[in-house]
Amino acid sequence: MTEALRKSLAHEPTTDQQPDCLVRRAIRHSLGAPGKLVRGQLVLLTVNAWGCPWRPALEFARAVEIVHASSLVIDDLPAMDNAALRRGTATVHRVHGEATAILAAVAMLAQAFEAIAGADVSAEARVMATEALSRSVGPGGMTGGQQLDLAGVGNTKEEIATVHGMKTGALFAAAAEIGTIAAGIDGPRRWLMSDFGKLLGKAFQEFDDLADRYGSTESMGKDTGKDEDKATMVAVMGGKAADGLRNRYALLEIDLLALPWPNDEAMPVFALLGNPLVRAN
Ligand code: IPE
Ligand code: IPE
Ligand code: MG
Ligand code: MG
Ligand code: MG
Repeated sequence: MTEALRKSLAHEPTTDQQPDCLVRRAIRHSLGAPGKLVRGQLVLLTVNAWGCPWRPALEFARAVEIVHASSLVIDDLPAMDNAALRRGTATVHRVHGEATAILAAVAMLAQAFEAIAGADVSAEARVMATEALSRSVGPGGMTGGQQLDLAGVGNTKEEIATVHGMKTGALFAAAAEIGTIAAGIDGPRRWLMSDFGKLLGKAFQEFDDLADRYGSTESMGKDTGKDEDKATMVAVMGGKAADGLRNRYALLEIDLLALPWPNDEAMPVFALLGNPLVRAN
């Protein structure tokens, strides 16, 4: 499953026959160094968890990973976190320049929605997935959350959780929602999975912020200490943030077990939480 997803990200669409150009090289740079694929795997594991085969949803998973990669290209820009290293290699703007990095991020968003439109599932599912993914990127989701993050909004744990829920939780929510849609499921179970994904994303961001403070550049494959001035749970709680995170993981496990899974094999979704910050390659 993970290997198929990794391969699909490396594969360039043959429908587009334009000659090679800088923006294309920048996209290749970003997608050619895939990360842990947590969000894409969440899509596919969710489909499986509902008792359906994951392969028809591969394009949905690819789309979610491309949106995520695009958000990282933007997050690393000098106007944002000004990062030099990403996924063990130089950031896109450091190699290809800022203007090209911006164009690549926009082009990747377009490619993501192209992937959704061409997925091997019903037209109804493609429309629902388009709506879910758009919502997660919009001002109520990732871009709105990134804006609040830059503005330093978040003096309390509640405010920080809101920012995390938007900047990171929204795409995790969309991943779980889209996996449910691909399984042909709508209604309360769709929203339950969306809520679960959001919780997962919030915990993931807390983990990432802890690693930003206490982890190493080598193990993370990206700059650390970048968010020391930001409003994070680590900033508010110090080392105690780790205990808060452990409790949150415990809560997530209970939430997950309470879901009406048709398939006991669903538990691999939770296995993603085992060590979400270890790079798979
Ligand atoms: C990094 O996400 C950005 C956050 C929301 C913390 P990942 O840690 O999933 O990055 P990759 O995809 O593995 O590089
Ligand atoms: C980024 O959060 C969240 C996104 C929406 C991309 P971070 O700024 O903490 O992500 P990293 O640590 O650079 O991967
Ligand atoms: Mg950031
Ligand atoms: Mg960053
Ligand atoms: Mg970080």
